Amino acid sequence: MKFSRLAFAVASVCVLSGGALAAQAQAPAGDAARGKAIFARVGCYTCHGFEGQGGVGPKLAPGPVRAWPVFSTFVRTTSRDMPPFTTRNLTDQELADIYAYLTAVPASPAPASIPLLMQLGGRSGLPCKRALPCPGAPLFYAPTA
Ligand code: HEC
Repeated sequence: MKFSRLAFAVASVCVLSGGALAAQAQAPAGDAARGKAIFARVGCYTCHGFEGQGGVGPKLAPGPVRAWPVFSTFVRTTSRDMPPFTTRNLTDQELADIYAYLTAVPASPAPASIPLLMQLGGRSGLPCKRALPCPGAPLFYAPTA
């Protein structure tokens, strides 16, 4: 969706800063537990959900999370629906902590590994889909007289 605009933002910043950001392709070490608290404190959660699952803002996690240069440049410089967070309200370390938090959000379990979901898939009347596979057996058997 917005990848090309993000890439453009990153490219612009790299050019403007003489490529200094390019040297920082890897995220600085961050603390995921602190990042979780900061994600809530500065309000990221209001648009992206407590676990980055998405809301009015897009899903940020579980991964793959954007590469660090794209992620950090976007948060610092965005000018669309999301307000930019500068170092005045979010330090570089805090942003690295948030990044550590988002990259550590565990992946959702596969739908097929959730028994109740499998049972509901067979009984809901909804068409079977990849995300909601139909089970082999029904949940309840009709009583026989
Ligand atoms: C007021 C709502 C709002 C808040 C608060 C907010 N975001 Fe966003 N965010 C958005 C929206 C909306 C987008 C989609 C791009 C746009 O329209 O600006 C977005 C996009 C992003 C993206 C790019 C997603 C992608 O892969 O395309 C990242 C990364 C991101 N936000 C991180 C954060 C972080 C980290 C915080 C907290 C420091 C935060 N956001 C706070 C609304 C918000």
